[in-house]
Amino acid sequence: MTDTATETTQTEARHEIDLPLPLLREGKVRSMYDLKDKVLMVASDRISAFDCVLPDPIPHKGAVLTQLSAFWFERTGDIVQNHRIASAPGAIAHAAPELADTRDVWAWRGMLVQKADPFPVECVVRGFISGSAWKEYREHGTLAGEPLAQGLRESDELPEPIFSPATKSEEGHDENIGFSRMCDIVGPDTAARLRSLSLALYQFGRDTLRERGIILADTKYEFGRARDGRIILIDEVMTPDSSRFWPADEYAPGRGQPSLDKQPVRDYLEAMVERGGWDKTPPAPALAPEVVQATADRYREAYRRIVGHDLYE
Ligand SMILES: Nc1ncnc2c1ncn2[C@@H]1O[C@H](COP(=O)(O)OP(=O)(O)OP(=O)(O)O)[C@@H](O)[C@H]1O
Ligand SMILES: [Mg+2]
Repeated sequence: MTDTATETTQTEARHEIDLPLPLLREGKVRSMYDLKDKVLMVASDRISAFDCVLPDPIPHKGAVLTQLSAFWFERTGDIVQNHRIASAPGAIAHAAPELADTRDVWAWRGMLVQKADPFPVECVVRGFISGSAWKEYREHGTLAGEPLAQGLRESDELPEPIFSPATKSEEGHDENIGFSRMCDIVGPDTAARLRSLSLALYQFGRDTLRERGIILADTKYEFGRARDGRIILIDEVMTPDSSRFWPADEYAPGRGQPSLDKQPVRDYLEAMVERGGWDKTPPAPALAPEVVQATADRYREAYRRIVGHDLYE
């Protein structure tokens, strides 16, 4: 379904989101605006690589993240209820009429959600060993201190998906914690519930993406308590920013995998580092226009592949 906002919002990439509304919080990529019992979550087109936010926005990236989350929220409601109230621009304007005059800024990249009390744990599920889990395993044979099967290579599929919670740190690097630490933080009943919900969501996402030629190597969920006390799924869900998406046709364990979404950016920056043009500390350099374009195309193509139609349709 096309929407009247399409023409004006499709083209403009935004690095900064600046709405005349009270800000609840601003993250590396998203701004959360406080609408009393609701929140407007707006994804910018900022992209980060090697832990640095890059100066160039990637056209359509914010809309891809938000609308992909909407796709998963629609399909996982039988596993767990979630915070989404509206994600189509017309439905948002209808549910929160005070947003009507800023529609150009938030259309497609914004989602209206119920305000929740977030649990202070990131519910990570890993189906494949990569990133910080690979680093710990290579050094100690463990994950968050628990022993793992022996003889795994980098990027191998795990014998079964592992729930691997982490705490948020303000500095950006999350700390993997064991399940018993998580029980101390949220209580054992809630911890067990969040673990089983996370594993069910991962299995659904992994199987859905596998049919579309994408490996969901790992992903992170966040849950919160709604006003009425229910546990609901919040934040973003199974997006490229909260997950590792690998192209299945290029998968080969024993090394790191190319990223379905960010690989042109990584390749460009790695080449620059190799030439001595950057040292992976902020500020990050500008990207070549063709790299921005190639990356935008990849995000949009990932959306089309997963959802089955183009963004804004
Ligand atoms: N429905 C909700 N109600 C209240 N807070 C929410 C809701 N959904 C998500 N949040 C919170 O909003 C914040 C989203 O911020 P965002 O992801 O942009 O930044 P961050 O997680 O703090 O940092 P990073 O940039 O590393 O992701 C998170 O703290 C998340 O827990
Ligand atoms: Mg976040």
